[in-house]
Amino acid sequence: MIPVAQNEMLTRVGPGTPAGEMFRRYWLPVGISGELRAATQKVRMLGEDLVLFRDEFGRPGLLARDCSHRSTSLEYGRIEGGGIRCPYHGWLYDIRGDCLDMPGEPKDSKFKDRVKHTAYPCREIGGLVFAYMGLGEPPLLPTFEILVSDSFTRRASMDWPVHPCNWLQLVENDQDPVHASVLHNDSSFSQNSLFPTMATRIDFEETEAGVMYTAYRPGPEPGTTYVRRVNSLMPGILAFGPGRSPDHHDDPEFGGSLRWRVPVDDTTTKMFSVYATPRKYQSDRTAKASDMGGIFVKRDIINESLAGKYWIAERNADGKFILDETWKQDYVAIVSQGAITDRSREKLGTSDRGIVQLRKMYMEAIKAVQEGRDPKGVMRDPAKASMVRLPRTNQVGRTEDELVVSYAQF
Ligand code: FES
Ligand SMILES: [Fe+2]
Repeated sequence: MIPVAQNEMLTRVGPGTPAGEMFRRYWLPVGISGELRAATQKVRMLGEDLVLFRDEFGRPGLLARDCSHRSTSLEYGRIEGGGIRCPYHGWLYDIRGDCLDMPGEPKDSKFKDRVKHTAYPCREIGGLVFAYMGLGEPPLLPTFEILVSDSFTRRASMDWPVHPCNWLQLVENDQDPVHASVLHNDSSFSQNSLFPTMATRIDFEETEAGVMYTAYRPGPEPGTTYVRRVNSLMPGILAFGPGRSPDHHDDPEFGGSLRWRVPVDDTTTKMFSVYATPRKYQSDRTAKASDMGGIFVKRDIINESLAGKYWIAERNADGKFILDETWKQDYVAIVSQGAITDRSREKLGTSDRGIVQLRKMYMEAIKAVQEGRDPKGVMRDPAKASMVRLPRTNQVGRTEDELVVSYAQF
């Protein structure tokens, strides 16, 4: 357990809160590149209401939603004149938040030069739009190999459902290898047949940008060992390295994935993912994705969700969720802990070491920001931030040599 005050410190993400300021020191995904065209998008991030758009020059911009003049929503603005024009009185803002035009003011007025609208810088990589919402000079946006290398095709998506709970519950689930053997032991994903066996050994280690567990289980053949490594990177990122994965059974070969958990506010969490497939293994489906510029958005899922069919809402006659797939099992376990779970009443065992380590890491990151230092995982050295590779996630082998981590920069 942790005291109530520490739980508050770790979970609140609005402007000025300790965890909120910590999150604002990283580039965070805010949208899908392929979906950012003519229309503006209403976005809520870290408790702030914002508008994401692409200007006539193709540049992404993220501005405060409410117009600086009299608070009409820029969601209804027009993209023109080098920025976004408020629909009410026509104030025109560019991606830096500079006001370029005030049609109602005298021609020689300098008033517009004194208005600075809240604007956050954006960058695009791997099919996602990232924003930096913090103070000071933005750090480097780490260019993971799977986000930029021509050796992969990629699918960038915003994953549904949005979780109606705090971000830390999703992240803690990642460093909890025991749950895989219990919660997922009747998953319809046949590959998960390896999970019902409780791990015989679990190691947790700190890495340069996060924490990682390694779980050892008996392999499918006598004499083999199944090793699963799961990497949690700052901030809120679940990273899977290359290798065929039980979680991605429909890919002919898995190149790796990154999944960002982005706090919408204290009690809502969004997920953005990039899944990579080595080009040499790509199927017709992923080849088609690469024809679309390497971006594959799960439109069917998003549309279904937007149509009001809450896609997790399959319940039995008693009104309980049917936990027949891995992601539904995780969703229900995490969301049913509460909007912000009360960690002061929990009882942690030895298998919760990863959870303890995660909380320690985030508390240290919060402290670093409070002391004016960069938190863990913030990159300013171009050599470190480029072509970042991930260790293999799933391996089956007979000997230690076969199971050695092939490479691990993080
Ligand atoms: S409210 Fe936006 S220009 Fe007046
Ligand atoms: Fe899980």
